[in-house]
Amino acid sequence: MVELPFKTLDDIDYEGKRVLIRVDMNCSLDPDTKRITDDSRIIASLPTLKELSKSKVALMAHQGRPGSSDFISLKQHTERMKELGLKATFVDDIFGEKAKTAIKNLKDGEIVVLENVRMFEGELKKAPPHEVAETALVQELYHLFDFFVNDAYGAAHRSQASTVGFTTVLPSAAGRLVEKEIRILTEATAEEKHPWILVLGGAKVEDKVKTLSRLLETGRVDYALLGGLMATLFLIASDSIPEEYSKPIKGFENAVDLAKTLLNKYPEIIRLPSDAAIERDGGRVECALSEMNGNPFFDIGPETIEMYMDLIEKAAVVFANGPMGFFERKGFDIGTIKILNAIAECKGTTIVGGGHMGAVAIQTGQEDKLSHISTGGGATINFLTGKKLEVIRALEEAAKRMDDLDADT
Ligand code: 3PG
Repeated sequence: MVELPFKTLDDIDYEGKRVLIRVDMNCSLDPDTKRITDDSRIIASLPTLKELSKSKVALMAHQGRPGSSDFISLKQHTERMKELGLKATFVDDIFGEKAKTAIKNLKDGEIVVLENVRMFEGELKKAPPHEVAETALVQELYHLFDFFVNDAYGAAHRSQASTVGFTTVLPSAAGRLVEKEIRILTEATAEEKHPWILVLGGAKVEDKVKTLSRLLETGRVDYALLGGLMATLFLIASDSIPEEYSKPIKGFENAVDLAKTLLNKYPEIIRLPSDAAIERDGGRVECALSEMNGNPFFDIGPETIEMYMDLIEKAAVVFANGPMGFFERKGFDIGTIKILNAIAECKGTTIVGGGHMGAVAIQTGQEDKLSHISTGGGATINFLTGKKLEVIRALEEAAKRMDDLDADT
C-alpha cells in the first residue's frame, strides 16, 4: 500500500464538527440547454460526503471558467445531489452574510452548497497557499469551521484560494477521492514501461501545450497522439493547415510558438492527424486536410484513426485526456469512441482522465476494461510529469503543522 504524506479522513475526528469540503463537480453540460450531461464527478464525491454524514458540511466547488459557456451556478448540481440522497441545500452566496448564516445554521448531516466559487474574482488568482489565504474568501469563512477537506482531485493542480488557501489556517485532510486517485496513479506509474503513449485532445489548449512540454521533457512519452483543438493548434504550427483555423482556440497566440518548438524538438514523438472530419450540409464529411475548405476540424478522419489505433494496440501504457473532436455534436464522436475502444482493448496499463473522456468511456461501457478512469484531466497529466500537485503539496505542509502542534501539546 502506498504511504501517503498527507492526512486523510482516517486522521481527523470529524463527527459533529463543522467541515468545509472543496470538491470538483465541474460537469459536462449540454451546450444548448446547459443541463448536466455527465454527473460522474458529483458521484465521485459521494464517498466523502456520505462518510461525513454526521458532520455539518459546507461544500465549495467551481463550474467552468468566467467567460466560458459552461460557467453556471451550482444550483443544478445541488438538485442532483438531493436526487442522490444527500441532505443538501443551495445558497446563492459564497462568503457573504447569506452564506455565513446558512453555515452557522447547519445541523449534523446537512450540507450547504455554496455558489460557484469562481464567481468571486479573487478565486481566479493563482499563487502560493499563504498568499491566496489572504483573500476575503478564506479570511471571511475559515473561523466558521473545524476542518478543511480537499476532495477536488480534478483541480489538484490549481493553487487557488479555495483549493489551497484554507490549508494554511485550518487542520486539513484529503477526501476519499483525492486519496484514491493518488494511490492508484502512484501504483500505476511506479514502474516505467514502454511504449508509453499519450492521447491528448480537447480544448484548454494554452494549459495543455505547456503540460505536454513538461511531460515530453521527462523522456517518458514515446508517442503523443493529438486530436481536438490540440490537433488544430499543432496542424497550424506545422503549416499543414492555414492560421484561419485558429478562431476556436482560446489563447492561440500564446500557445503556437511553444507548439512549433515542440514539433522541432520531438518530430518522432508528436503524431498529428493526416485527415479530418468536417461538417458540410449538417453532416459529417471525411476529407484530406487540404480539402477542409475553411471548415473547422471537428474530428480525426479514418486514416488518422487507423494510424492511432495501430500504435495504441502495441502500447505498454496509455494515458488519454480530452476528446478527439467535437464529440457533443452528432456524428463527430466517432474518432473519440474508436480511440477509446482501442485503448480498452490494449493489454497495457490504460488510464483515461478528465470529465469528457471519462464520461464517454462510461457511456460506451468501457469502464471495466480500463485500468483506471481518473476524474482529473489537467491534474492527472500534471501528476504524470512527476511534479507534485499543488493541493498535495499544501496538504503535506498542513500535515506537518498538525503533527508539530500535536507534538507541542
Ligand atoms: C477540470 O475540469 O480539469 C477541472 O475541473 C479544473 O478546471 P480548470 O482547468 O478550469 O481549472
